Amino acid sequence: MVTASSSASRWVRAKSKVPLVGGPLAYMHDPLTLMRQLYARHGPVAPVPMPGRTTAFVLGPDACGSVLQNGDKAFVNGWEFLVGPFFHRGLMLLDGAEHIQHRRILQQAFTRERIEAYTAALVPAVAAELGTWRAAPGFAAYPALKRLTLNLATQIFMGGHRIAEPAELDRVNRAFIDCVQAGGAILRVAVPGNRWHRATRGRAVLERFLAGQLPAARASGGDDLFSVLTQVRDEDGRRFDDPDVVNHMIFLLMAGHETSTSTVSTAMYQLGRSLEWQERVRDEALALGPDPSVRQLSELRDLDMVIKECQRLVAPVPVVARYAVADTEVAGRRIAAGTHTTVCLQLSHYLPEYWSRPEAFDPERFSPERREDRSHRFAWAPFGGGAHKCLGMAFSDLEVRTLLAQILTRFRWSVPPGYVPPMSNVSLPYPRDGLPIDLRPLSAATGVSR
Ligand code: HEM
Repeated sequence: MVTASSSASRWVRAKSKVPLVGGPLAYMHDPLTLMRQLYARHGPVAPVPMPGRTTAFVLGPDACGSVLQNGDKAFVNGWEFLVGPFFHRGLMLLDGAEHIQHRRILQQAFTRERIEAYTAALVPAVAAELGTWRAAPGFAAYPALKRLTLNLATQIFMGGHRIAEPAELDRVNRAFIDCVQAGGAILRVAVPGNRWHRATRGRAVLERFLAGQLPAARASGGDDLFSVLTQVRDEDGRRFDDPDVVNHMIFLLMAGHETSTSTVSTAMYQLGRSLEWQERVRDEALALGPDPSVRQLSELRDLDMVIKECQRLVAPVPVVARYAVADTEVAGRRIAAGTHTTVCLQLSHYLPEYWSRPEAFDPERFSPERREDRSHRFAWAPFGGGAHKCLGMAFSDLEVRTLLAQILTRFRWSVPPGYVPPMSNVSLPYPRDGLPIDLRPLSAATGVSR
């Protein structure tokens, strides 16, 4: 039942034990520990004061599922406050009828056929990018992966309109990083040199860059995502105007490279610790031969379990943001209108009620015999759920498989015993130290490039 209310602040503040400004800092320090403490103290809906806002964390799969499914339409997206100025009118930031309409059009760019075409273009592009990796002890895997996935996003998504100059690639990459990192800014106004300011400049760089490329993309009628966005229409013939093509591109480029980088980086860490699993998935990838088809890639069973396990352990998007526009009830607890609501997907991945030894890297938990992810519909939810469920899920799955299969068939790697990467949680999680690994070419005995 949805009713208007003005008492949100009083209700949430009254019950909170987390100090004001403590919320964002505690989150950035260690989000999982904060979520666990809040869940233990408050149950499925925990008040967390943030400066100038009434905020609740929603914890556990029942509560997360309820907010994501949004049965009584009490929630709208809450991203505007966090990243709105930088991902303006990206699909994730739209609501209601406009969101449905734009999602319908965008879906036409993510049909099975289109995804297969993007993936087919990925295979040689990944091979070319990996050809530039120089194996060495202490190889910084994370920046290399980030650069690689951005290069892929700009090549595959933008087809012929790709970035030719390394300096321009660096500028665009920097602009993306600045936009994404603004999410964690405490001071949400632009002051020269601060995060918000860098992000504002970053957005302008991206807009100029894409608007400049747009006429060529439209004229090409090509198969790359940028050209496709200029062509796609919904069943009523509606299509995007030029500014919205640019808005969607900026969001898709970001969504398509940050999250896949995170998954592959976690996999490199986990497989660098668990050499048995590394050999097991390498054998599976090597069995495909040098030029795997999209179908073969989709059938890699062990790699599939590894990817899912990595997305469980480090959800690339650990929380999603909603805003209550009406009083509502979640898992038996009241959330008042005006509450910024953080849906904590990551905590569900670690709750012992749903997972055996949740801290352990144990890909077999996703095997057909165990399927621990079926313990609850939202126990494993790295792609969210409900109306905003990730539109790029199928493409990202193939992208990550392509990347890992090719890395595995070219390199062998390890991390020192006991090494745990220090994570930054200012925006999406990433290893602050660049994830140094001992990267070696695969031995001559395998007959694969070295
Ligand atoms: C491992 C990879 C990825 C993960 C974990 C991931 C995760 C997510 C999550 C959790 C959401 C829901 C946000 C919300 O509910 O507010 C989302 C939405 C979205 N994602 Fe992804 N994503 C990934 C890759 C991609 C890729 C590769 C693309 C496109 C190229 C993409 C495009 C989108 C879009 C367009 C939305 C918004 C959907 C909507 O609002 O209707 N994602 N993603």
